[in-house]
Amino acid sequence: MCGIFAYLNYHVPRTRKEILEILLKGLQRLEYRGYDSAGVGIDSGNYKEWESNAKTIQLIKQRGKVKALDEEIHKQQDLDLDVEFDVHLGIAHTRWATHGVPSPVNSHPHRSDKSNEFIVIHNGIITNYKDLKKFLESKGYEFESETDTESIAKLVKYMYDNRESDDLSFATLVERVIQQLEGAFALVFKSVHYPGQAIGTRRGSPLLMGVRSDHKLSADHIPVMYRSSAKDKKSCSALQRTDQDTCLFPVDEKAVEYYFASDASAVIEHTNRVIFLEDDDVAAVMDGRLSIHRVKRTAGDYPARAIQTLQMELQQIMKGNYSSYMQKEIFEQPESVVNTMRGRVNFENNTVTLGGLKDHIKEIQRCRRLILIACGTSYHAGVATRQVLEELTELPVMVELASDFLDRNTPVFRDDVCFFISQSGETADTLMALRYCKERGALTVGVTNTVGSSISRETDCGVHINAGPEIGVASTKAYTSQFVALVMFALLMCDDRISMKPRRREIIQGLRVLPDLIKDVLSLDQEIKILAEELYEQKSVLIMGRGYHYATCLEGALKIKEITYMHSEGILAGELKHGPLALVDKLMPVIMIIMRDHTYVKCQNALQQVIARQGRPIVICDKDDYDTAKNSSGTIRVPHCVDCLQGILSVIPLQLLSFHLAVLRGYDVDCPRNLAKSAAESSWMKKPQKALCVYLYLYLTLLKNALSYVLMTSFKEASYFAVTEKIVV
Ligand code: G6P
Repeated sequence: MCGIFAYLNYHVPRTRKEILEILLKGLQRLEYRGYDSAGVGIDSGNYKEWESNAKTIQLIKQRGKVKALDEEIHKQQDLDLDVEFDVHLGIAHTRWATHGVPSPVNSHPHRSDKSNEFIVIHNGIITNYKDLKKFLESKGYEFESETDTESIAKLVKYMYDNRESDDLSFATLVERVIQQLEGAFALVFKSVHYPGQAIGTRRGSPLLMGVRSDHKLSADHIPVMYRSSAKDKKSCSALQRTDQDTCLFPVDEKAVEYYFASDASAVIEHTNRVIFLEDDDVAAVMDGRLSIHRVKRTAGDYPARAIQTLQMELQQIMKGNYSSYMQKEIFEQPESVVNTMRGRVNFENNTVTLGGLKDHIKEIQRCRRLILIACGTSYHAGVATRQVLEELTELPVMVELASDFLDRNTPVFRDDVCFFISQSGETADTLMALRYCKERGALTVGVTNTVGSSISRETDCGVHINAGPEIGVASTKAYTSQFVALVMFALLMCDDRISMKPRRREIIQGLRVLPDLIKDVLSLDQEIKILAEELYEQKSVLIMGRGYHYATCLEGALKIKEITYMHSEGILAGELKHGPLALVDKLMPVIMIIMRDHTYVKCQNALQQVIARQGRPIVICDKDDYDTAKNSSGTIRVPHCVDCLQGILSVIPLQLLSFHLAVLRGYDVDCPRNLAKSAAESSWMKKPQKALCVYLYLYLTLLKNALSYVLMTSFKEASYFAVTEKIVV
């Protein structure tokens, strides 16, 4: 996920070397979020140029890790690292590619023009960037990257070039820019026209500021300045009043340092005094004074921003307050599902737009069969959504494990549409199945989380799930985002069916409330931890359910196996009497998923069968289902949602349970033994070829690495990102 860090020193002399060290350290603190390139923007020139006021900005950007950026900085011949700045703003960014492959030109900061008059760093997504780009190109602005962010850099210059008066303040300029932006953003701007000034603003993406001074600050709250009256709207001059009623500053005009960051981990080593900006705040630092501006005042606005004291240690927040990436990723799910839907689901008109499928949707609607092919957790996302896909597309839907699909030489035809679901986009069996289907003439669709991955490159079209990087080996947020992406696809497939309208509306409104319901489920964490304390010494856990929740059983059991090394089995409750019931006795831990949907009565039967064998099941059920709760030896009660999305809410307790079990058993949650995040080795080998294949695999891996470098550098645009229509989430 992208990271923002900016540093402004005011009357605190810093050499360029020190400034760069601070910027790079800030980026390193954001590394845990995952990224694929990084960049900085600083004042350029040597001491003489700087003194003569001929200020220019230098950008240094590099693909890969912060270390690679550091090396790139040290390669710059003309960069005088010893020059000292009494006042300076440096901005820095780590980028996780969404629009365009990882490359220096796509990395941030982005610039307004070749002489870097304005530069900007951005987290989030600008959903109307295509319109902005078209407009700006018509005005003669030339774009150099494939990103949405560049349109902001060009727009700020356009607004500046067309200003009505020379005393236009930086804050007013940025206020005007953000009024034209749709989507989500956290932004920090730097400009040669406003030396020593910084502007940060946000909408939908987090941004905070840190302040550090050895001197007393003028206030502990910063009043918000509204530009609400017609007169104010016209007025564009720099701040008229810069006293403690409008600004924050060290009394006696002394030294002060400001930091902007997308999360606290980057600033905590410098200061624990922070200001959390709110949506549409424009924070401006000018002459060492911080002011906060808003275009208009709305009901319920709190007219000041408090300077808060962070009560956290650096170590604590390296993983954003979580003990492991897996835990962090589980708790990110309210945001990651929003990111999957962002710009795609319109909750007002009940419509879905998937830009990456736009050119192929008619062909897909005409197909004879859908085949979903994947491995591991991604396979479970297919199982979880099969029913809603069958319902809304009225097509036969097959869900296949890639290795088995290949083993069977499964017949595939030209009028099949084959989906390849993969978080990494690199899993070898899934990739081989993709090539197999292509050879047979089927249309191929990717559902991946990784831009520029083999699967996203080789499929005809697809959906990028935008869940953000998943670092924990056990997949969690990618699963729920794959789930949402496939439901969105099902909705798109029937958007011309009048008879489906009420059902579509019900599901889309279900998607709307989903993030809040996920938060409710996450609030059960302590209860689930207590449950884990009762279970962690057991050898085995059975998880039973049916219908929409069969996939949850499989996925829950996989999570437990992967990271706790306990035996666990996901059992279809309808199959209970055909074998698994023999395992049930008073000692065998059983978890049952019983939700109020069309399988409710059948699940109650299964519950009775388990109880009759002295089983003491723990039940995951609807919040208000007291009858089921009565018959169980423990319950996890989750909020109710539309039936086909309920599986998202039922799986999260099992993600949490597996996490707590692993911690209690003393295992490394993020790196389970014998497993990797992406399984690059195919299980699809015929026996006589095995030895040969081991060598071939090693050779191909080397070749692939070399090739993917070449491809990544020449790869223009992943078709999946030809999104987005109207912004919604
Ligand atoms: C590996 C991982 C699993 C993952 C599976 C599929 O086995 O350990 O967690 O579900 O690969 O990965 P993919 O990247 O294709 O979704």
